[in-house]
Amino acid sequence: MGKLEGRVAVVTGAASGIGAGIAVAFAREGAYVVVADQCGRAAAEPVLAEVAAAGRQALFVQTDVSDTRSVAALAAAVQQRFGRVDVLVNNAGIFTEALVEVMSVEEWDRVVSTNLRGTFLCTRVFLPGMLERGSGRIINIASQLGQVGGTAVAHYCASKAGVIGLTKALAREVAARGVLVNAIAPGPIETPLLDRETEQWRRSKLAELPIGRFGTVDEVTPTAVLLASADGSYYVGQTLGPNGGDVML
Ligand SMILES: NC(=O)c1ccc[n+]([C@@H]2O[C@H](COP(=O)([O-])OP(=O)(O)OC[C@H]3O[C@@H](n4cnc5c(N)ncnc54)[C@H](O)[C@@H]3O)[C@@H](O)[C@H]2O)c1
Repeated sequence: MGKLEGRVAVVTGAASGIGAGIAVAFAREGAYVVVADQCGRAAAEPVLAEVAAAGRQALFVQTDVSDTRSVAALAAAVQQRFGRVDVLVNNAGIFTEALVEVMSVEEWDRVVSTNLRGTFLCTRVFLPGMLERGSGRIINIASQLGQVGGTAVAHYCASKAGVIGLTKALAREVAARGVLVNAIAPGPIETPLLDRETEQWRRSKLAELPIGRFGTVDEVTPTAVLLASADGSYYVGQTLGPNGGDVML
């Protein structure tokens, strides 16, 4: 028996990187997985194939987490196929860089809408069912940048600090009603998101990382499995940090 046998899990942004890794790890633990991503189905095929190889057919729903109608359509599709959601992973996120003095309002809005509003919108559609059943897990993928800040990423840091605040507030609201809400704040993890960084950034970041290397997706997914499974039953409103020692709180 896997740690998530028979659970239904929605993972946003699951076509790539950390989300894809979590979707596959959940499937390997016996969960039914919904891959919700703004990309088209073709881009999601590799993760869908990996989930299938783990013995579960994933449901793919093209979804823009920042759009209320798109999120409502996701909820309807999941309801029709599975009738419930046990675990929601709010992972969809984008990262851009700009100094505040030159950052456009559009860039600010795009990052905050995806990372923070998207987390709220998805939570809002799946939480009521969890509360009705008196059980559920919500895992929000934040970032260590939301804890310590960073140059040229104020919008990203604000969105991720917001995700951590939302995690703590909601955890207090719903823990006694059976829904456990926690966050994961990874350090630099090798994904397409990190690939977009400059060589100069990679060199200086590596030099300051206590562990001396970037993390892999497989070094984040066990934390998501922990928080989604019975093993994580006493975590409430926490922000766990697979970050190679980059941030120590
Ligand atoms: N890679 C890192 O170093 C790192 C570190 C800390 C936190 N994170 C966070 O982890 C999460 C996943 O990042 P990643 O590194 O795997 O990135 P990634 O770019 O590999 O994957 C992000 C996925 O989110 C999807 N997405 C983007 N906007 C969306 C939207 N509006 N609606 C639905 N899907 C959308 C993309 O299509 C993509 O499949 C993000 O929230 C990111 O901020 C990443």
